[in-house]
Amino acid sequence: MPSPHSSRCPFGPPPEYTEAAATAPVTRARMADGESCWLATGYTEVRTILSDHRFSADARHPAFPFLLPGRRELVAANPTFLRLDDPEHARLRRMVTGDFLVKRVAALRPDIQKVVDDALDAMTEGRSEADLVADFALPVPSLVICLLLGVPYGDRARFQGLSRVLLSNNAALEEVTAASDELRDYLTELAATKREHPEDDIISRLAVRDDLTPREVAATGVLLLVAGHETTANMIALSTALLIDDPEQIAKLADPAMVPGAVEELMRVLSIIDNGLPRVATEDVELGGVLIRAGEGVIAMLSTANRDETVFGGPGHRPVDEVDLGRDSRRHLAFGFGVHQCLGQPLARAELQIALATLFRRLPGLRLTVPREELAFRTESLIFGMRSLPVAW
Ligand code: HEM
Repeated sequence: MPSPHSSRCPFGPPPEYTEAAATAPVTRARMADGESCWLATGYTEVRTILSDHRFSADARHPAFPFLLPGRRELVAANPTFLRLDDPEHARLRRMVTGDFLVKRVAALRPDIQKVVDDALDAMTEGRSEADLVADFALPVPSLVICLLLGVPYGDRARFQGLSRVLLSNNAALEEVTAASDELRDYLTELAATKREHPEDDIISRLAVRDDLTPREVAATGVLLLVAGHETTANMIALSTALLIDDPEQIAKLADPAMVPGAVEELMRVLSIIDNGLPRVATEDVELGGVLIRAGEGVIAMLSTANRDETVFGGPGHRPVDEVDLGRDSRRHLAFGFGVHQCLGQPLARAELQIALATLFRRLPGLRLTVPREELAFRTESLIFGMRSLPVAW
């Protein structure tokens, strides 16, 4: 399969995916390791794959398709609930659902606002230029997830670097294995300390439970730490880069009533989990005009599903390839769908709403300091993003 975002428009899916979507909603494709799989690009088909129990997310299944070659043993040896099926998935997810409920996250909004304000104060103090990734997009979600998990923020350079290696599609397997081991050992040690001296945080609450093994606690900690900062950081940076020269759209963020819908539209159009979600069929399934046989791998492509004209198009709006903060995008699939739908979505939404509205309100003159063609996108990662975003105000 092509490397996502090799297209002319860095924000959109590569032409190969768009062409596949135009041909049929489910087509044959080849993975980076040479294995064949099905590529689902249609909205309905992607939703079906993600919510139908005949498609498994268990990475230990011998035919599970891996987006990155050589990861089978590594992922199978360190399963997180992201790559397990029910009932194992439900048992582990249940341990942390309470911490990410909409009501719980709503109570965190003042704390998130303070993190955002402090980051902007630090970024702008005595300066009129910055790298928005290093000084804002990455610190905000990293600090928030550290507070929730009870991970010392002082360790951020270590866990941010290790996460990046884990998600990279060009790191050597030995490097990825070493990063995975180091991150797991780090969380195992942290959990052991918190079991002795529990505090008011998620790792402490998991560590004191007797129905979880230390390995399960560490795996859940790794999943939350990695998913909790890298995704939202890239969404903040990409959203800023997308909107920065578009005053008509920025004006919409000034209206608090429009901010939640605006964030859904940014989630839709950016679809940062842009390598697709892997699954394997456990029974024969007829879908999108093809027969997917039991034991065949399937990649559900969120970025093309999120550009379906019939769902997101309509008169009075910009084309679906373009951002339109007034569009009703609530049916987007950027957080996935079904039992594995993103656990952290209330948190991600709150962070994005607060970060973007505050950024454009406080810095109305925000502009790029390099030509748009020179922006450095993170194309080597399972999560699309930006390496840096040089701005001035
Ligand atoms: C804008 C940011 C985010 C995006 C685009 C995103 C996207 C996704 C997607 C597409 C899935 C489904 C994966 C699948 O079905 O295979 C997922 C699952 C997950 N996400 Fe997020 N996510 C974001 C933020 C977060 C945050 C802040 C957390 C916080 C801890 C988080 C934690 C998780 C977890 C734990 C899962 C696994 C859920 C399960 O398997 O039951 N995510 N995310």
